[in-house]
Amino acid sequence: MVRKLAAGNWKMNGLGANIAELEALVAAPAPECDVLICPPATLMGACVKAAQGKIAIGGQDCHSATSGAHTGDISAQMIHDAGGSYVIVGHSERRTDHNESDADVSAKAKAAIEAGLTAIICLGETEAQRDAGETLDVIGAQLAGSLPEGATAENAVIAYEPIWAIGTGRTPTLEQITEVHDSLRADLCARLGNQGQDMRLLYGGSVKPANAAEIFAIGNVNGALVGGASLKAKDFGDIITALSES
Ligand code: PGA
Repeated sequence: MVRKLAAGNWKMNGLGANIAELEALVAAPAPECDVLICPPATLMGACVKAAQGKIAIGGQDCHSATSGAHTGDISAQMIHDAGGSYVIVGHSERRTDHNESDADVSAKAKAAIEAGLTAIICLGETEAQRDAGETLDVIGAQLAGSLPEGATAENAVIAYEPIWAIGTGRTPTLEQITEVHDSLRADLCARLGNQGQDMRLLYGGSVKPANAAEIFAIGNVNGALVGGASLKAKDFGDIITALSES
């Protein structure tokens, strides 16, 4: 059985006072799934402490090098050293805002794995690509270019996040999510065999308490990557409960 994962991405949100939201999640009964919060880097140390080992803490991005003259960047090794256990790589906001290519994402994921982190590798099509019927081709090409050698079910997670569904309140139909996740599963199995069968596939993009249960009922959805709704313990807690019961 694949252990499911509820991952929260706080993006560029969160000051010291927001750690209270994490504390509320820590105080809740332990769910039947893994829970991860990726706070801004400034809060990572405080979040690791507050999480008490009950909730995993991760980074939102890392550099592909272990150290060096890269002002403003942080390395996977630094995230691991701070007590983090995951890092998101290739989020569409990074791909767009920082021109990250599949090769960049693959190099970051490789660095994460080498540092002992689990890499959450994000993929997703634009609305224009979906309208043009290119979704499966785009996702397949992103997977081929972004998944590094050495990825296993233990050290890598794939997140399907249609760009047009992120922060918009719009979600694909359940059939559309199923189609992409089934395609990703087949592709991963062809590449990695049993490791591909067990690698967790997260859906991300406007997941909220109201739609979580129906999304988690899809066979090849093994969890979610949640932005906005992860900022409030009540909402994220309801999503965790839906995943735990799925
Ligand atoms: P959202 O963001 O849940 O706010 O749509 C998802 C994401 O970007 O990971």
